[in-house]
Amino acid sequence: LSTGPLTGVRVTLTAGPTREALDPVRYISNHSSGKMGYALAQAFTDAGAQVRLISGPVNLPAPAVDALVQVNSAQEMLAAALADPGDCFVGAAAVADYRPATVADQKIKKQGDAIDDMTLALVRNPDIIAQVAMSRPKPYMVGFAAETQALLSYARDKLVRKKLDLVIANDVSRPDAGFNVDTNTVTLVDQHGDKALPSQSKTSLARELVNEIAQRYQAHAKK
Ligand code: PMT
Repeated sequence: LSTGPLTGVRVTLTAGPTREALDPVRYISNHSSGKMGYALAQAFTDAGAQVRLISGPVNLPAPAVDALVQVNSAQEMLAAALADPGDCFVGAAAVADYRPATVADQKIKKQGDAIDDMTLALVRNPDIIAQVAMSRPKPYMVGFAAETQALLSYARDKLVRKKLDLVIANDVSRPDAGFNVDTNTVTLVDQHGDKALPSQSKTSLARELVNEIAQRYQAHAKK
């Protein structure tokens, strides 16, 4: 039986990209590989937590979790997140902010040789983590911030605007951090201040992050 620092705590975690369909054969997405989220899922399990992993489409073996929910779109990820947000919710997924306004039933055809341009109409996707933060009882809320500039000020803005308890900020302009690489460099941002962690593999970073989250979760649960 597990005796880790998060024994019995229910963690809901999102990972990977979302895919927003344009037609039966095309979609809009991003470069998230799921590596960061899957490493966290494993580290939470190792810390004794009951992990529910909501995953976008990735090419990774399933980690040892209590439940793996596979989704494609942001709307599907939202429904899965709200169905059971857990005691602690961690948003590591790179959710598409916009989706095509309409999904064509049939493959979209070229418009003919004389027309070179095509315009795509997009609509806003729901903000999954902000909606989970409005559920009651409110879980301890951990978000990521993926930024290419002004990392810490955007991260702090997300902390307040999305009503999060902790933001893990990664500077995705660095070649050794963020999307689709094996390493990451992050700074933790919460109401007490900022804490930069050393650059390292996503596997070892996940263990460090789970320790940091466990300490904060326990202090929060005592309130
Ligand atoms: O998957 P990897 O290749 O390992 O890469 C890891 C990662 C870079 C994807 C990961 O470390 C990361 O930063 N994930 C969040 C990426 C992101 O979309 O960040 P954001 O700054 O756009 O979003 C801020 C927070 O809001 C995130 O917790 C995100 O999950 C959440 N969000 C965003 C938009 C939306 N519609 N709903 C959300 O819940």
